[in-house]
Amino acid sequence: MRRRFLAANWKMHKSIAEAVAFAKDFLPRIAWAEHEVAIAPPFPALSALGHALAGSPVALAAQNVHDEAQGAFTGEVAPSMLAEAGCQWVIVGHSERRHLFGERDAFIARKVAAVFAAGMRPIVCVGETLDEREAGRTFAVLETQLDGSLADVPSGHAADLVLAYEPVWAIGTGRTATPDGAQEAHAMIRGWLRGRFADDAGAIRIQYGGSVKPDNAAELLAQPDIDGALVGGASLDPESFARIVRA
Ligand code: PGA
Repeated sequence: MRRRFLAANWKMHKSIAEAVAFAKDFLPRIAWAEHEVAIAPPFPALSALGHALAGSPVALAAQNVHDEAQGAFTGEVAPSMLAEAGCQWVIVGHSERRHLFGERDAFIARKVAAVFAAGMRPIVCVGETLDEREAGRTFAVLETQLDGSLADVPSGHAADLVLAYEPVWAIGTGRTATPDGAQEAHAMIRGWLRGRFADDAGAIRIQYGGSVKPDNAAELLAQPDIDGALVGGASLDPESFARIVRA
């Protein structure tokens, strides 16, 4: 049985004060949640949000990480720094990192290994663009991303992976994949995971991401291979994200 996992990706939104205020407002709304929940704020808000979430069932996540332990990498943050700040999760290979900042699968694979080495767990994002979908290349693109991004998962850690299928054309556009369309991609990903990780594949959670809202969450989450959601815009409001958690 895979425990449902809802993660908020705040992207470049919310000050430290706003993050703390969100926690105060949000926590009472989901106090009874049986699902796993995490929030990924911008780096400067990590510590304060971590304190605000302490003792609650909500985990702290980072939106990005570098794969090296330290060094001359201006603007980057090391895995151990995120662990020290209280992160349990790190979003790796988000499409905005891939497309706006040029991250390639090999770099993402090294990040995945580094996140595990630092005692955290990655949420690894994959997904096709609209052009790729219209060219009938969705599965081929996903396969390439999975092959590349999951090339260095340390042995014994496969079941701790979380994947996020996020079709790029659905992110921030209000255009959600249909539940059937999303399930089809998730089933393909599950099949790939089975080929790569054998029995552990059944334990790996696959989140759907891309314009998940309170109104469409329930039918997406009802699909057999959709084990949670990675939520951007709709996670910025406490009641909206709480409604998705409760969906
Ligand atoms: P969205 O973003 O929910 O705003 O579409 C999802 C994501 O990019 O993780």
